[in-house]
Amino acid sequence: MESLKGKTAWVTGASAGIGAATARALCSEGAHVLLSARRTDRLAALAEELDSAEVLPLDVCDAAQVKAAVAGRQLDVVVACAGLARGLDLIQDGNPEDWAVTLDTNLKGVLHVVHAALPGMLQQGHGDLVLLGSVAGRQVYPAGNVYNASKYGVRAVYESLRMDAGGKGVRFTTVDPGMVQSEFTLARLGDPEAAAKVYENMQPLTPQDVAEAVLFAVTRPAHVNIGEIVLWPTCQSSTRDVSRDS
Ligand SMILES: NC(=O)c1ccc[n+]([C@@H]2O[C@H](COP(=O)([O-])OP(=O)(O)OC[C@H]3O[C@@H](n4cnc5c(N)ncnc54)[C@H](OP(=O)(O)O)[C@@H]3O)[C@@H](O)[C@H]2O)c1
Repeated sequence: MESLKGKTAWVTGASAGIGAATARALCSEGAHVLLSARRTDRLAALAEELDSAEVLPLDVCDAAQVKAAVAGRQLDVVVACAGLARGLDLIQDGNPEDWAVTLDTNLKGVLHVVHAALPGMLQQGHGDLVLLGSVAGRQVYPAGNVYNASKYGVRAVYESLRMDAGGKGVRFTTVDPGMVQSEFTLARLGDPEAAAKVYENMQPLTPQDVAEAVLFAVTRPAHVNIGEIVLWPTCQSSTRDVSRDS
């Protein structure tokens, strides 16, 4: 494992779930971590807990805000983790406002982060750009529609990065988990009881499991680019099949 001592890592979506766990993991290996999300109080509490961290509040939907937040910074590792799903409706019953928030956050938000970070990484000739995709970007599921589209889009961004900016020392990675127990489902459904039911009688991945996958990718020797990591809970065999204990 290569050390992250002396390196700066920027994590979006650091106020909860996978992003917060990733910030902890990167910091524990020596990185100075820049923590971004909208909930500043959460970011400040995490920064307090970590050895070396700063809070950079932002909304990934706002391209200018994202660019300004990291202007002039040297970034060695970037983890674009901010994301969400709004609603779980059949496409014919969907709400265009939910679609806009999902696409603006997951797809345009990732593009804004890439656009802010990539020029500097290419100039310095090294860096890790990690995108949080999902198995939902590899298989659709009923009522997943626009969330699926956003994550298929993230995978297209990952593949485009390899085409457009590959071979210049920067490494690109997509980390695509199955079900992870975080605040994701509560944010999607807005109902704690319905959210708890999603994880009933099954063992989902933890945010820490995903953070370890990110950490593995960014600590390989410089000539090794881990491109795609897909991780499932053992009891989940597809985006629509989960074995539950009775
Ligand atoms: N949980 C799963 O089952 C699962 C599976 C596969 C992939 N993923 C992906 O993993 C990523 C992280 O999800 P999670 O499970 O950790 O969910 P989570 O616990 O709900 O965390 C989502 C994070 O994204 C941030 N965020 C949302 N909208 C934002 C915006 N407009 N600007 C800045 N930050 C924003 C939230 O912070 P604020 O609200 O403070 O802004 C929060 O820090 C997402 O991209 C998600 O699609 C999740």
